[in-house]
Amino acid sequence: MDIELRALSLKDGEVVFNMLKEMPAVSNGFYNTGYEISREEFSSYLMENYNCSKGIDIKKGYVPQTMYWLYVDGKIVGIGKLRHYLNDNLRKEGGHIGYGLLPKEIGKGYGSILLRELLKEAKKIGVKEALLTCNTDNIPSKKVIERNGGKLQDIFEDKYRYWIEL
Ligand SMILES: CC(C)(COP(=O)(O)OP(=O)(O)OC[C@H]1O[C@@H](n2cnc3c(N)ncnc32)[C@H](O)[C@@H]1OP(=O)(O)O)[C@@H](O)C(=O)NCCC(=O)NCCS
Repeated sequence: MDIELRALSLKDGEVVFNMLKEMPAVSNGFYNTGYEISREEFSSYLMENYNCSKGIDIKKGYVPQTMYWLYVDGKIVGIGKLRHYLNDNLRKEGGHIGYGLLPKEIGKGYGSILLRELLKEAKKIGVKEALLTCNTDNIPSKKVIERNGGKLQDIFEDKYRYWIEL
């Protein structure tokens, strides 16, 4: 299996745009902000997210975040988000990392691969311990976190909070 995690690029095109349209706007607490955008808005969507990864024009209450696309055997299957550090909101909900797969790619084990690859990126930017949160009824995500070494801290407002040492 050929696995590639590619950071969002200003050169991204149709493949990424179509995936954003296929992925639900929200699923189990994972937000796809690309769901609503039109083809005309796609380049500004890329620019905003690219800038956010560089710490430019960050919205109040947000932190720098890099977005990634997971490719398996050359096919795009999901989205990953890496927050560069935590703030009070992310400590309660969201943590360092978010991930979601295209509905047709769920249930094939790609979730664990996606998180594994995102954790490598987190380590590269100096995160020592990654916080992961997931809804208590999201069994697949809970398992994906535990498979990647998650140690449960607690349950806060119906969400598990896990730490993964890097
Ligand atoms: C969460 C998500 C990334 C998981 O990825 P996935 O590749 O579909 O996960 P898998 O199919 O490999 O399932 C992971 C584990 O959960 C188990 N599982 C799946 N559905 C289950 C269910 N209803 N009950 C019990 N176990 C279940 C699988 O058997 C697997 O167990 P294993 O690791 O012991 O084999 C994916 O489901 C997804 O994108 N969901 C929507 C967005 C989302 O929830 N994001 C996370 C927000 S925290």
